[in-house]
Amino acid sequence: MIDLSGRIALVTGASRGIGRAIATMLAARGAHVVAAARGENAKPVADEIAASGGRSEHITLDVTEPGGNEAAVVGVLQRHGRIDVLVNNAGIAKDQLMVRMKRDDWDAVLNTNLTAAFVLTQAVLKPMLKQRGGRIVNISSVVGQGGNAGQANYAASKAGIIGFSKAVALEVASRGITVNVVAPGLIDTDMTRAITERTREEWASKIPLKRLGSPGDIAAAVCFLASDEASYITGQVLAVNGGMYM
Ligand SMILES: NC(=O)c1ccc[n+]([C@@H]2O[C@H](COP(=O)([O-])OP(=O)(O)OC[C@H]3O[C@@H](n4cnc5c(N)ncnc54)[C@H](OP(=O)(O)O)[C@@H]3O)[C@@H](O)[C@H]2O)c1
Repeated sequence: MIDLSGRIALVTGASRGIGRAIATMLAARGAHVVAAARGENAKPVADEIAASGGRSEHITLDVTEPGGNEAAVVGVLQRHGRIDVLVNNAGIAKDQLMVRMKRDDWDAVLNTNLTAAFVLTQAVLKPMLKQRGGRIVNISSVVGQGGNAGQANYAASKAGIIGFSKAVALEVASRGITVNVVAPGLIDTDMTRAITERTREEWASKIPLKRLGSPGDIAAAVCFLASDEASYITGQVLAVNGGMYM
């Protein structure tokens, strides 16, 4: 079984959905998880992990707040002296057909889904380079691979994170740091519950494995990429989508 004992892992958007499952599974594999979300939203997750015998703490982090990401990493380093795993998971969607898309909605999605990952990655790279090791896992989407009408902003952010990850992977590979991407398909979370039931059913019927994914399906892929078992894998996109896009 994957053993992440002693690893310090920072997970953004850990309050619910996929991020919550990632935080919980990393902790179940032995990592100390710093669960981040806005306000006190990640506290229940950290408390739940601790109650079941795992190691976790929550932090308040709005990934779009200037200086917030850097301060979060400084805090982790002050408390733990190192950072082994970063999971850039926090994400939003603001869907609209291109002709009607507001510039503000473009900016909000790009800032949250892509620019925040740039800032956080830059902040963790210094300590990871010093440690000569680390794991960065970025959460993209099937929409970043295949596109989707009404999601030009979201698709751009999720395709962007793939190119970004590959470029950074090349820059830091010689220092034992891997950078990979997990690209979920349609996963049962608040994000997809915001889509109409009809659209969800339409999408589900097109999935070869004939079901929506669970947050745990994504968490398992992240845990693998964060583990020693994945030490020879970098710059890759692991699609966890039930065969929706191959
Ligand atoms: N669900 C899917 O089908 C699907 C498919 C492909 C990819 N994804 C990607 O997977 C990731 C997680 O999605 P999900 O379905 O779990 O979404 P979700 O249930 O809507 O949860 C989103 C998470 O992101 C956090 N977040 C949003 N804006 C933030 C901000 N400005 N600062 C800090 N945290 C912020 C939220 O935390 P707060 O408590 O602070 O709101 C929450 O924890 C996203 O990157 C999403 O694009 C999802």
